[in-house]
Amino acid sequence: MSSRKLKNILVTGGAGFIGSNFINYLFGMSATGEKAFMDSGFTGNIVNVDCLTYAGNLENLAQVEEKFGGKRYFFEKVDICDRAEIERIFKQYDIDTVIHFAAESHVDRSILGPEAFVRTNVMGTFTLLDVARTYWNVSLDNPRDDVLFHHISTDEVYGSLGKTGYFTETTPYDPRSPYSSSKASSDHLVMAYYHTYALPITLSNCTNNYGPYQFPEKLLPLMISNIRDGKNLPVYGEGLNIRDWIYVEDHNRAVWQIVNDGKTGEKYNIGGENEWQNIKLLHKVIELTSAEVGKSAAEVEKTIVHVKDRPGHDARYAIDCTKIKKELGWERKMTFEQGLSMTVKWYLTHPDWVNHILSGEYKNWINRNYSDR
Ligand code: NAD
Ligand code: TYD
Repeated sequence: MSSRKLKNILVTGGAGFIGSNFINYLFGMSATGEKAFMDSGFTGNIVNVDCLTYAGNLENLAQVEEKFGGKRYFFEKVDICDRAEIERIFKQYDIDTVIHFAAESHVDRSILGPEAFVRTNVMGTFTLLDVARTYWNVSLDNPRDDVLFHHISTDEVYGSLGKTGYFTETTPYDPRSPYSSSKASSDHLVMAYYHTYALPITLSNCTNNYGPYQFPEKLLPLMISNIRDGKNLPVYGEGLNIRDWIYVEDHNRAVWQIVNDGKTGEKYNIGGENEWQNIKLLHKVIELTSAEVGKSAAEVEKTIVHVKDRPGHDARYAIDCTKIKKELGWERKMTFEQGLSMTVKWYLTHPDWVNHILSGEYKNWINRNYSDR
């Protein structure tokens, strides 16, 4: 049994895709209402620190705000790079746990404009680590086991796989994009704070997430909404790149298990054991989405366009998650068949959520940056 308090949790990036699903999960408000994701047992308080970039959306948390706002849930519109504000929040809420999701998260944007990635992912993570170290007054001479800093990271830090093999927790880092290299830097800082200052940390590296509330610039929600709207389906290169897909709430259950029972100073890989070539996954999404919106899948197939490949496009990601399964007894609860079908339905039954994003600043951003979609 860990002696962690887990009473006043600072969640960063809680208005984004994974972070908002995490907060909903902790408060028993799973977006899809699946029983398997209603059992967090969380009894503490959450302070959600998010500066609401283009990717932050408080609509994702409307139910939590309504039921728990000002009681067990508090929102602070704050930038994680703002040290004075982060210090204030640690003091004001007597933070004992940090679960750090906030990041610039989209590879394509990191290629177009890497600076924001270095700022938030590297400097922002540094700021949080350093405030936690100071506020908790930890050092090698004063170690503590009642507080915790959990850092959320990605499998992309390990680089690109060939046809065979898997990333394990000991695979050397070999990031290729500005996004993955900024995340790799943040992972290294987290481990450095553990070794140098005895900051109690855990770290997780996860594969591609899918599910409700994902910003529609990412592959799955983009394709679902483009099929709905009769738009082209842009496939980078031949579409032969492989990703391992995990349902977002399975990821979040893993994070919660690590935060509760993970060993301090350890990193855990989290994966879906569910590899798909992009083009094959797109065929599947076309089949499911066309059926839901009453279009002919064969006609929708004709809207696939092979666009210029992403520079430095990693060929394959795949995770070996034996460690978290063996040590913490974590297992995936969502099959891909069920999860993908529920996800397609979720986007189609939440047109207001999707349209709000598609009609806002994002539309101008697409027009500014791409001529082929
Ligand atoms: P997202 O882009 O949907 O959300 C990021 C959130 O962070 C947004 O709400 C945004 O407003 C907030 N944010 C950004 N910069 C900030 C700043 N300077 N200060 C405060 N808030 C800020 O991202 P996501 O997909 O939910 O990813 C969350 C975390 O999970 C990231 O750390 C990402 O690297 C990691 N991750 C994502 C995936 C995936 O498939 N999406 C897979 C593995 C790991
Ligand atoms: P993405 O959702 O951006 O996640 P990541 O780059 O972090 O893996 O992309 C998933 C895969 O889909 C990736 O190989 C790039 C590809 N892709 C396309 O082919 N077309 C698109 O329009 C997008 C956004 C991604």
